[in-house]
Amino acid sequence: MATVFSGVQPSGDFHLGNYLGAFRNWVTAQHDNDAYFCVVDLHALTLEIDPADLRRRTLDAAVVLLAVGLDPEVVTLFVQSQVPEHSRLAWLLECTATMGELGRMTQFKEKSTGSESVRAGLFTYPVLMAADILLYDVDEVPVGDDQRQHLELTRDLAIRFNNRYGETFKVPRATIPKVGARVMDLQHPEAKMSKSVESPLGTVRILDDPDDIVRKVRRAVTDAGTTVEHDPAGKPGVSNLLELLAASTGVGVAEAADRYDAYGPLKQDVADAVVALLSPVRERALELRSDLGEVERILGAGATRAHEVAQRTYARAATAMGLVL
Ligand code: TYM
Repeated sequence: MATVFSGVQPSGDFHLGNYLGAFRNWVTAQHDNDAYFCVVDLHALTLEIDPADLRRRTLDAAVVLLAVGLDPEVVTLFVQSQVPEHSRLAWLLECTATMGELGRMTQFKEKSTGSESVRAGLFTYPVLMAADILLYDVDEVPVGDDQRQHLELTRDLAIRFNNRYGETFKVPRATIPKVGARVMDLQHPEAKMSKSVESPLGTVRILDDPDDIVRKVRRAVTDAGTTVEHDPAGKPGVSNLLELLAASTGVGVAEAADRYDAYGPLKQDVADAVVALLSPVRERALELRSDLGEVERILGAGATRAHEVAQRTYARAATAMGLVL
């Protein structure tokens, strides 16, 4: 059985990009693998977040992950800060990574540009992410396209550590879906859909009610001209809609493009497909929200299971580096 690990930051409302790029692939991976899924609350501290919001969003993240179909009987679902080895291993890996390679991370550059005071944690963020993964002897990390570079860094750090201190970590690989790996904002199709609140109309949230989803898809920005073709550079808006249809229904992108000769019917079908995909998730999430005690119990059991594995790997790494345990 392969081991699978992935994580999500509880830093905002989860959206269709998270669902298509990551969550639904976690659900498919859960049965045939030893699977760990983590709400990475420590990562959320790298940007401004209100403590009360963080607490609420952390539990709500677990609600959504259960609602999309993760089965707590088969996966280990937990909160990062409840397993202290994540921070402990991150330090060992910070002493393995270099300033140069962290400075080259595009997400760091994007998130720090224009900001007067950048938190040190934002800079070391990808090292904590590497620690998350390497603690569990992971084979595969199902993520969206935006995490590709962080996964490359994780591999580099694992290989460097192994070369320097002896075979300690398994070297993981990213699994990125063929469609849905980069869902774009409906209002700004040149930018990826994201949790930040800057583009409410461009972001389909997983828990949006169906009317809102239809409204957002209908008002999606399309491109000059009227032809429906898949051309992400020249027609980013229409291409995004075609990809959404492909990712939501399983039809090929080219085949989807051939079906339409106007934007209106394409939008209608995308809206219907996305509503069909997300409505059941929304209903389950609303039910689960009424029993947060059960959600906390699931997370507690997950943290206990994760801790057992994480402790062993941490001890291996610390010993390899010469720490006296
Ligand atoms: P986060 O919280 O930004 O996103 C969670 C997952 O959703 C994917 N995703 C997208 N996929 C397609 N289109 C989009 N517009 C889109 N936006 C987000 C992300 O690729 C991700 O898979 N650094 C990570 C969290 C993390 C992690 C880890 C992931 C921390 N430790 C260890 C994997 C393994 C992040 O910020 O994801």
